[in-house]
Amino acid sequence: MNPVLKVIYERKSIRAYENRDIPEGIKDEIIKAAMKAPTAGNMMLYSIIEVTNQSIKDTLAKTCDNQPFIAKAPLVLLFLADYQRWYDYFINSEVTELCKRMNIKMRRPQEGDLFLACSDVSIAAQNAVIAAESFGVGSCYIGDIMENYEIHRELFDLPQYVFPIVLLCFGYPTKQQREREQTRRFDKQFIVFKDKYRRLNKEEFNNMHKDLEERVFKSNNFLPGAQNIGQHFFLRKFNADFSKELNRSVREILQNWLHR
Ligand SMILES: Cc1cc2nc3c(=O)[nH]c(=O)nc-3n(C[C@H](O)[C@H](O)[C@H](O)COP(=O)(O)O)c2cc1C
Repeated sequence: MNPVLKVIYERKSIRAYENRDIPEGIKDEIIKAAMKAPTAGNMMLYSIIEVTNQSIKDTLAKTCDNQPFIAKAPLVLLFLADYQRWYDYFINSEVTELCKRMNIKMRRPQEGDLFLACSDVSIAAQNAVIAAESFGVGSCYIGDIMENYEIHRELFDLPQYVFPIVLLCFGYPTKQQREREQTRRFDKQFIVFKDKYRRLNKEEFNNMHKDLEERVFKSNNFLPGAQNIGQHFFLRKFNADFSKELNRSVREILQNWLHR
């Protein structure tokens, strides 16, 4: 098989790591690959912090919805959407003067700038994941880094226009993780459309979730009260405490980004 596709198809999230460091040369390649990702306007609207301090890792293991494996990951990279660097550069480049001279209103980063930076940083992060995988280094995204914004802002000295989008944990997979089955994906017919968006009907939803529903049902893993996968996911994800905290935290950053 094409070696690039092999890496992509065989990857899975790795949440338990062997107790060995990732060599500096491999770390460098992972970061280099991230920085080689496509980036809007070639502006690199992101920053990356390598978290090396064990006490910060320990904190993150708690503030990111209590996921202890974060503290044990040999390499932890924080990917930040970053408009601060460009905004500071504009100020340093006397753009305010330019605006006065040209009678243009100077503006601050807004919603669209944030979304663009979020795309940038996610694409860079995924390049890091694939590069790591190509060296046999496993990884796992931690979306919960968007929670507890106030704590993370202080922990990493984040200025107004810098927001954590993903945390990535890296390490060599344990044997159990290497042998673990991959997760499955929904069938293409439910995900990929031609020309126009199409909302799914009840029958299609039933087909889409049939496989998963049977497996969860068989293993008796439905959450109390849930009678199908939709209800199970609603309780487990959408309405879970972490999800409420995520939305509160992101609301706070948006207010911070837009109004202060
Ligand atoms: C944006 C994003 C956030 C995620 N956050 C977490 C997380 O906080 N904890 C975790 O264990 N896995 C997290 N994951 C990993 C997903 O659970 C995983 O990708 C999914 O279950 C599919 O499994 P696979 O990666 O093994 O194919 C996240 C993945 C993405 C893309």
